[in-house]
Amino acid sequence: MSIAASLAGALAPPDAAELAEIARLVREGSGIVIGAGKASMVQSRLAKRLRALGLKDFRSYLALLNAPEGGDERRRMLSALTTNVTHFFRESHHFEQLRATVLPPLIARARAGGAVRIWSAGCSSGEEPYSIAMLLCDMADDIAGLDIRILATDIDREMTALGRAARYAAAAAETVPAALARRFIAAVGDRVVLRDPPRSLVSFRELNLHSAWPMRGGFDIIFCRNVAIYFDTPTQDALWLRLEAALRPGGWLFLGHSERLPVGDPTRLSSQGITSYRLPVAAPDPEQPPWH
Ligand SMILES: C[S@@+](CC[C@H](N)C(=O)[O-])C[C@H]1O[C@@H](n2cnc3c(N)ncnc32)[C@H](O)[C@@H]1O
Repeated sequence: MSIAASLAGALAPPDAAELAEIARLVREGSGIVIGAGKASMVQSRLAKRLRALGLKDFRSYLALLNAPEGGDERRRMLSALTTNVTHFFRESHHFEQLRATVLPPLIARARAGGAVRIWSAGCSSGEEPYSIAMLLCDMADDIAGLDIRILATDIDREMTALGRAARYAAAAAETVPAALARRFIAAVGDRVVLRDPPRSLVSFRELNLHSAWPMRGGFDIIFCRNVAIYFDTPTQDALWLRLEAALRPGGWLFLGHSERLPVGDPTRLSSQGITSYRLPVAAPDPEQPPWH
């Protein structure tokens, strides 16, 4: 900490060694990369944590993070450093593709008694999974009788709690197509709330994509948008393979606008439009002719 800052009682940014240690903990904990030029970002985002803990510099904060009882603070630090920007129907072309191409056969399968599973991985405060849910409800009036579920996960517990509450600033509804907003969003005071359904289609869970996943997989659609952009390339490449393995044959993967599967990638996913990818539908098993 600089002498000027300590005299003024202000929190100084982490020095190079402190920043490197914070970056190491964040990288190990979440896969997120924090570059050497991010000292002021780290300072501003963590200032509230240090104040709440009564700590005056990053040296004491790191001592706490690295202490055996530092696990809860490491989680809070990740929460403070993640970028949670999102909105309803973000990157609207994906929702057009869902409506035109992806969802009709899945709804037909659910009507024939099948299960449909959708995962919003890195869902932030829930606008993304609720956008999918509103679309489904609009396309299928009989949704309540169908086995269609959306899992919404995020590393940040505060975000999944906001998603579960399904209550947003009124301005958040402005990006919802008017016909869907009229049907599925209710005004309550100066806030808006998701109606049920679509609300009940979505289950929120805390999940770090950089750790083991408890789900068995078998997803028809995975949205993992604007999450991997914060990871380094090896972490991204490992994630693409894990997401592929979590899809059913014929399953779809949607990435964010600045994320791409690498050229000549080792996955079997093929491009289906702007940052949308699909696994091949399973080839018929020659041992099992279709009339069996
Ligand atoms: C920019 S938001 C994107 C939200 C939404 N998918 C969208 O595109 O609008 C990125 C989200 O990814 C979450 N995130 C970052 N690293 C993660 C990780 N390792 N595991 C799970 N979620 C993570 C953040 O907490 C944040 O809520």
